[in-house]
Amino acid sequence: MSEETSTDRLIEPRAEKDEVVLDLTLRPQQLGDFVGQEQLKQNLIISIQAAKKRNEPLEHILLSGNPGLGKTTLASIVAREMGSSIKITSGPALEKVGDLAAILSNLQAGEILFIDEIHRMNKSIEEILYPALEDFSLDIILGKGPAARSIRLPLNHFTLIGATTKLGMISNPLRDRFGHAYHLNFYEPAEIEKIINRNATILSVPIDNESVKLISSRARRTPRIANRLLKRIRDVAEVQGNGKIDKKITDASFGMLGIDEFGLDEVDRRILTTMIEKFSGGPVGLNTIAAACAEEMDAIETIYEPFLLQIGFLERTPRGRRATPLAYSHLGFPTPKVQTLL
Ligand SMILES: Nc1ncnc2c1ncn2[C@@H]1O[C@H](COP(=O)(O)OP(=O)(O)OP(=O)(O)O)[C@@H](O)[C@H]1O
Ligand SMILES: [Mg+2]
Repeated sequence: MSEETSTDRLIEPRAEKDEVVLDLTLRPQQLGDFVGQEQLKQNLIISIQAAKKRNEPLEHILLSGNPGLGKTTLASIVAREMGSSIKITSGPALEKVGDLAAILSNLQAGEILFIDEIHRMNKSIEEILYPALEDFSLDIILGKGPAARSIRLPLNHFTLIGATTKLGMISNPLRDRFGHAYHLNFYEPAEIEKIINRNATILSVPIDNESVKLISSRARRTPRIANRLLKRIRDVAEVQGNGKIDKKITDASFGMLGIDEFGLDEVDRRILTTMIEKFSGGPVGLNTIAAACAEEMDAIETIYEPFLLQIGFLERTPRGRRATPLAYSHLGFPTPKVQTLL
């Protein structure tokens, strides 16, 4: 594992390597324990009940949404609710057409195939998925050149659940083959509070209400970040206090971690400050911001920007991103009198 891929960033919504165990302990097992996303859950319940009643596999489902909002969790809950097993792979892990062909031909009837980061699947692999999704068949080419021939193998009726953080990168033919496409939104603060309370109970750490609210307001409306903050603050409570999470411990932890009251860390602040100081607040292109901040464009696009847009610190304009008056005042800059017109 290269150094660049690991991160110590606390509010990084993507899972870290050592986090799998925490993720597994805290991961809700049933739809009833899955907090929020009410509309999505209602739709899922109906599809699940209908499929069960007809004794048929579920239609293919596409889940999109920012990292850490619960796509993987939902996929395993769906499998459990359907009483089926789940096979898990990801777009980048499928290197050869044969990798996917082998997985598909081994699927049992009703089994669920979960492909994470499905937007990163190779085009040639994606193409063998089309007939598999539509007709439950696998077209295989045997041999090469003029002697090559194609055979069609039948597959069991399975359900694909695809997950993506970049819906825009899913090709139309692939998208059209999903019966349902659901988008996971950022969570409401009250929902994050509920998740923190539930997880504090699972981790058997005492926590007061004020701290729950404080953590929730800084968790970037993302369950994975809430879980991570809870775990870090629990450590501080154990080392510096009596194991109980209270406001004093929570405040001290956030001070140590450099996370402000909006849940922004040093990188978010650097992005906004750079935009304000070097580009008069914008509009400025994403690649220019990335270069000026020495951050990867992809990280800015999938990690930092969605939340900054969500809390109204950034604006998207046809000519690039722009820091809003809210960002100016949060960072202590005088609000510009006239903002450049679009
Ligand atoms: N609605 C929820 N209620 C309770 N806990 C949740 C919810 N959604 C996510 N979590 C928690 O957040 C953690 C991260 O969720 P999950 O791994 O499903 O996110 P993801 O969307 O698959 O992220 P990624 O895009 O990085 O794969 C889970 O382990 C779980 O504990
Ligand atoms: Mg996931």
